[in-house]
Amino acid sequence: MLNICDQSVSSRMIHVRRGLYKGLNLLTQRLVVGFVVINLIVAAGIIGLKSRSSKGKPHETVLITGGLGFIGSHVVDQLLSKGYRVIIYDDQSTGNNFNVKAQNYRGDVSEVNDFEQLDNHTVDYIVHLAAAISVSESMQNPEKYERINVAGSKTVLDWAIKHRVKRVVAASSAAVYGPPEELPLKELSPLSPISPYAQSKLDMEHLCDKYQREYAIDCISLRFFNVYGPRQNPKSEYSGVVSKFIDSVYNRKNITIFGDGKNTRDFIYVKDVARAIITAMKEGFGFKVYNVGTQVATSMNELAVQIIKKAEAPVGIVYYPPREGDIRYSLADTTKINTELRWKPKTSLEEGLSETLKWYEETTVDASKKSKATTGTETPKKSTRM
Ligand SMILES: NC(=O)c1ccc[n+]([C@@H]2O[C@H](COP(=O)([O-])OP(=O)(O)OC[C@H]3O[C@@H](n4cnc5c(N)ncnc54)[C@H](O)[C@@H]3O)[C@@H](O)[C@H]2O)c1
Repeated sequence: MLNICDQSVSSRMIHVRRGLYKGLNLLTQRLVVGFVVINLIVAAGIIGLKSRSSKGKPHETVLITGGLGFIGSHVVDQLLSKGYRVIIYDDQSTGNNFNVKAQNYRGDVSEVNDFEQLDNHTVDYIVHLAAAISVSESMQNPEKYERINVAGSKTVLDWAIKHRVKRVVAASSAAVYGPPEELPLKELSPLSPISPYAQSKLDMEHLCDKYQREYAIDCISLRFFNVYGPRQNPKSEYSGVVSKFIDSVYNRKNITIFGDGKNTRDFIYVKDVARAIITAMKEGFGFKVYNVGTQVATSMNELAVQIIKKAEAPVGIVYYPPREGDIRYSLADTTKINTELRWKPKTSLEEGLSETLKWYEETTVDASKKSKATTGTETPKKSTRM
């Protein structure tokens, strides 16, 4: 039998035991919660890493020659938004689209010594866009085109081999086809470049092929058709026809067309081109050549009318005799890039023109000029048609 004292001792022990059980329970609960939280953090980290790597690995570095230019600046934007580290190498001869999130180096692609500034960098991919780009200037100064576009491309490829770059994506041009024997133009269509510019792009493609065979470096050449969009410099004499037409309408000048305006081009929006470059960088392999266009032919007359209508500008079209060497029709067959790299353009000409006009209005049009200009139109120098 327990006496009163024993009873109180045993009830105290029960209390202590209960307290111990409670404490243990609490500790177990906390350990379980802690374990779950740690697991959640680890899982979130893995998911985060996976989703970042599917967007592009942030630790990969892309060197862009000509990255301050029209097309290059859009490639820079898209790469940065995907988490790549970006290095721009540009001689600043025409490009001025600086991006503070990229590292900038000033240098000429054809100067081996200039390129040595980059020797301390580890680069995964090179997007090679730097080039002299004027067909008419190339007729006057073919040596410049040989030096920058051919010797310059060789410097880039030599550096790529020395620094074990995974892949080079290089900008070629639809100009390599020359006057087409068949339409639409396929990658295997006959090539007959008719200007030193076009020849220099074809020579660059051959270099890519040679380097791939001799040094096993992946080199993809993209033949761009007529690229247009925001940041194409309308003041440059080498600019594309879209920016020239837009510049005319905003300055209330008639649009100038050489020939009857029935010649056609395949106009491709610059952001689609930038996406094609990044797709080729990630998905392509070996030596490959791809057309980058839309498979839609637009005549100069259609283009001019669309721009005039969109800008609601009181201007007309002035026709001049056709320029020597102008190609009558151009149109891309993009089956190869569609099927092999699963790339397709996303932007219609209608949408692309709206974006370009918006950009032009926001950045270039001087407000006072705009209000003054609504009053009159220039008298056409020659015949005017709408
Ligand atoms: N815009 C088009 O419609 C089109 C069509 C076909 C091919 N391409 C090709 O695409 C590439 C980019 O063209 P873009 O329209 O952006 O031209 P762009 O003139 O705007 O860009 C070229 C860039 O290269 C730089 N550069 C020129 N010479 C250089 C040199 N020696 N060293 C270093 N940098 C130099 C310029 O400063 C500029 O920033 C070019 O290779 C061009 O031949 C363009």
